[in-house]
Amino acid sequence: MKTIIEPFRIKVVEPIRMTTAEERERILHEAGFNLFLVHADDVLIDLLTDSGTGAMSSEQWAGIMRGDESYAGAKSWFVLQERVQEITGFPHVLPTHQGRASERILFELLGGAGKIVPNNNHFDTTRANIEHTGAQAVDLVIEEGRQPTNRHPFKGNMDLGRLENLIKEAGRDRIPVVMMTITNNSGGGQPVSLENLRAVREICDEHKLPFFLDACRFAENAWFIKQREPGQQDRGVREIVRDVFSLADGATISAKKDGLVNIGGLLLLRDEELVRQADELLILTEGFITYGGLAGRDLEAMAQGLEEVVHEDYLQYRIRSTAYLGERLLAAGIQIVEPPGGHAIYVDARAFCPHVPPERFPGQALVIALYRHAGIRAVEIGSVMFGQGSNTPAMELVRLAIPRRVYTQSHIDYVIEAIIEVHQQRDRIRGLEITWEPPSLRHFTARFREA
Ligand code: F0G
Repeated sequence: MKTIIEPFRIKVVEPIRMTTAEERERILHEAGFNLFLVHADDVLIDLLTDSGTGAMSSEQWAGIMRGDESYAGAKSWFVLQERVQEITGFPHVLPTHQGRASERILFELLGGAGKIVPNNNHFDTTRANIEHTGAQAVDLVIEEGRQPTNRHPFKGNMDLGRLENLIKEAGRDRIPVVMMTITNNSGGGQPVSLENLRAVREICDEHKLPFFLDACRFAENAWFIKQREPGQQDRGVREIVRDVFSLADGATISAKKDGLVNIGGLLLLRDEELVRQADELLILTEGFITYGGLAGRDLEAMAQGLEEVVHEDYLQYRIRSTAYLGERLLAAGIQIVEPPGGHAIYVDARAFCPHVPPERFPGQALVIALYRHAGIRAVEIGSVMFGQGSNTPAMELVRLAIPRRVYTQSHIDYVIEAIIEVHQQRDRIRGLEITWEPPSLRHFTARFREA
């Protein structure tokens, strides 16, 4: 059979509502042409993020009912701890309310002025948490990872030469940890190979540096390894996942992605002294070490989600359905970051509307055009998000992130049709100018008008 189907049937449905063109025009003006300020109810297909937007399974909902809400030592905590230990091999598991809470704890312990933290590409919250401590966050992804049309199979890989140079130039004492983000969200949802992870581990060993993963999308990354890396085809995803985690000294995880839950995070550690210090910070702001800012039911749902995410029929469907969107756009002559990533398709907005210069925000202009035409919400990753101050981002992208197990193929067909129609009328897309912006992270709240 050629067709890869959704490996589930639907038991609960949530209606979505189409707005009229006039309504959307009014909504856009009221929201200052910023889709973060639009009510979700006024969005037909919401591709803003894949984070915390997935659908839970019947078993996860059953877990919600089983949740033990005891303050200390809840049964649900031990269910989660055991599942995480089994899947990742990490001895120490700290629950947090989401990924950035794990990052905050880790970098409060390892960061500080004068320190440098390399990564393939830091996600924005990781970078922000590092910089908040006075340390510097450095991106060292391979050159191919910066080229939208390059079809390298592992565009999330670290540039090993640049990593060695950084260690040599900065000195190992200034580098408290080497990070790797799997898959590489800021670089287009691109995977990292096992070979590259092993090589980074070797460099870390040579210089006695700890190696941590930002493992939000560890299962999607493992599926890409199975599909693309020589010698990995016949191995199980679980085995690959164990191999990947075995290379690291720790991991920060937002369970809102491959944990298949709407809220939750993890901090995984091996070093006992670090665990002691992290536990202290966890208790200070998240909660006791057996719930970490989550309800017992959240712990149950996460334990079950982590089990379901490594099922291979799920991963085949997940990665294939993202690729389907990307391939159809490419076939229609719409440039995306190639090859398609795991959780999202990134449209090259500069190629889509070459008549809109970077200072008129081509990505934001395209995001507005998609909402105006079809009620679709996507997110700009370009000059609005990263161009504040003197920064000039390398690419002007629009991310179409796919929530897990939420939309069917006909929803995606609708998205494809809408984007193609907008592309056919792309001359009409108008640039924007900012009428108000906050001092930082302006993409969330800035207001625009059409220029
Ligand atoms: N690391 C990566 C690679 C992420 O993609 C995210 C979140 C985080 C850390 C932070 O996790 O949101 O649970 O605190 N990414 C979301 C996104 C927000 O839309 O890509 P969090």
